[in-house]
Amino acid sequence: MSETTIEARVQRMEWAAEDILAVELRRPDGAALPAFTPGAHIDLHLPNGLVRNYSLLNDIRDSHRYVVAVGLDVHSRGGSKFIHTELRAGQKIRISPPRNNFPLVENAPKVVLIAGGIGVTPLVCMAFRLAALGRPYEFYLAARNRARAAFIDELNALGQPVHAHFDSEHDGAPLDIAPVVAAAPAGTHFYCCGPGPMLAAFEAATAHLPEGHAHVEYFSAREQPKSDVPEGAFALTLAKSGRTLTVQADKTILEALLDAGIDADYSCQDGVCGTCEVKVITGVPDHRDSLLSKAERESNKTMMICVSRCKGDQLTIDL
Ligand code: FES
Repeated sequence: MSETTIEARVQRMEWAAEDILAVELRRPDGAALPAFTPGAHIDLHLPNGLVRNYSLLNDIRDSHRYVVAVGLDVHSRGGSKFIHTELRAGQKIRISPPRNNFPLVENAPKVVLIAGGIGVTPLVCMAFRLAALGRPYEFYLAARNRARAAFIDELNALGQPVHAHFDSEHDGAPLDIAPVVAAAPAGTHFYCCGPGPMLAAFEAATAHLPEGHAHVEYFSAREQPKSDVPEGAFALTLAKSGRTLTVQADKTILEALLDAGIDADYSCQDGVCGTCEVKVITGVPDHRDSLLSKAERESNKTMMICVSRCKGDQLTIDL
């Protein structure tokens, strides 16, 4: 985790909805933080040793603060549970600079934002931006029930259409995304962030759109199609040092590097945050991340070394 981090203080924590906490972070000296764009996220280096990434939800014109929201995950591996039960206002933590894998196309003729649960966070930031630019958008906000719908008042205050869907008021049925997509005019850009089943429905409903009009962000790993590449060992060459390692079948590239004492940037180790992305010099990656688009995968220019492997027996990366 060699990336430069920033010292921040938890300025404020407040209840945004049932099981959702909004956390405001500032530098202890009050100085400006690095600028960010809608869809960006930061890593929180928690005092319990875990690193977790969260989308920034506040207006990009806020130069001195970052705001994230954290849903209490019943399957928490220690990140969201720690934030909900241990983290308190006044504590200092280290954070990464913002990184954006989910950028907003700001000049689209129309934008439709579709959020499920805690997936609302990057889309709130996008709504602030579009409202500031005077660009037309519609917001679809889905939650299990009204109590779990975060930031709905803030979205309504922006004055553009907000369509709320509460599963509990539809016999438990989720938001039907296909009619939303079908009703939008040609040229619309769609953004979706939410739980896995919502993202799968979104990808199915937007599969016919021109490349680059449907944007999705996973916050946990996308289910991968079964790879037809054998899980064998392969040789990994590091272009900058000329060093070659063997990545065993039961290790990731990242693990092989760390085992060999070689520093590399990483965070989620799940193929969703982009921190570990490296350029590929030679060889063909077996992509297993949840980030790269189809075109990016096919270009084989970069790969996520925390999950992706190699089609073949040799890979050279720009490390
Ligand atoms: S560490 Fe997050 S994508 Fe690899």
